[in-house]
This record gives sequence, structure tokens and C-alpha cells, in this order.
Amino acid sequence: MTNRSKIAAVAALAMLLSACSGGGEQGHEAKAEGEARQTAPNSMASMPSGNAEHGKLIVETGIPDKNRASCASCHGPAGNAPIDPTYPRLAGQYADYLEHTLQMYRDGERQQSIMGMQAKDLSDQEIADVAAYLSEQKSDLGDLATAH
Ligand code: HEC
Repeated sequence: MTNRSKIAAVAALAMLLSACSGGGEQGHEAKAEGEARQTAPNSMASMPSGNAEHGKLIVETGIPDKNRASCASCHGPAGNAPIDPTYPRLAGQYADYLEHTLQMYRDGERQQSIMGMQAKDLSDQEIADVAAYLSEQKSDLGDLATAH
């Protein structure tokens, strides 16, 4: 090997190594991110499993001992016919989303006066129950032309 080709070989090796270690680091970062995601507080992972039958009761009749109106009085039967076009339909929404947003209303992270009142002392179990029930309901939202 001439000196020149030795230098070229060393340079190529150096490039190769740096490419590998670069890739390695990226892989490591991606893995660390994945690990962080798993260990980050995840409200859904800590939620109890929902009882749709109890959820139906809460949606239809409210929670008497918490003096709470029924969800249906605003969101309509099965959460699918809101009394005002600015009130959202809940039927067929993902359970995780419903749980997450109800916890946010309850904990003041999503602020809206009406729902803040409604969610203020819901337990995680009650939230999981209504989410289980509402997510199982058929939504009319498939066609937005008929949404209101
Ligand atoms: C007095 C009327 C009223 C009652 C009763 C009520 N809601 Fe609501 N709800 C609203 C309004 C208005 C909004 C829209 C709030 C906003 O813009 O953040 C809303 C929003 C929501 C949302 C967020 C939907 C989305 O797409 O982000 C959920 C979930 C929800 N309500 C669940 C419930 C549940 C469960 C109950 C019963 C425990 C309930 N609501 C009772 C009026 C009501």
C-alpha cells in the first residue's frame, strides 16, 4: 500500500466509524425517547377499566349524590344530539380522548366554565365509566352535513 492509499483507507475508515456512531447515537436517542414515553406519567395507563353500564347511568341520570346534571341534558341522548350547535357530540369518540379531556376539565388544565363545573369532582372511575359508554355509541359525525 502506498502512503497515499493508506491515508485514503484511514480516512474512509474514519468516515465509516463516524457514520456508524452517528447512527448509533440516533438509535440511542430514539430508544431513550421511547423509554421516556413509557415511563412518563400517562393518565390513561393509570385509569381503571370502565364500566359502560354505570357510564350509561351517569350520562342519562347524572350523579345524584354529587348533585350533577345528566350529561345527556346538554349532549343529548347517548351524547349524540347536543342541545346547542356549539356543544360537542360525544358519541363514538375515542375513550382515551374522553378520559383525557374530562381529567383536564376536572384538574383545571382545560378551562371552560360549564364543563369545569360538570367534571369538577368526577372520580377516575366515573370518568372511565362514561368514556367506556360514550365511546361505544354510534356517532352521526360520519357525515358532517348532518351533524346539526
Ligand atoms: C350544562 C351543559 C353540559 C352538561 C350537563 C355536560 N356538558 Fe360536557 N360540554 C358542554 C359544553 C358547552 C362543552 C364544550 C366545552 C368546551 O368548549 O371546552 C362540553 C364539552 C364536553 C367534552 C369535550 C368534548 C370534546 O370534543 O373535546 C366532554 C368529553 C364532555 N363535555 C363530557 C361530558 C360528560 C361526561 C358530562 C356528564 C358528566 C357532561 N359533559 C355534561 C356542556 C355540558
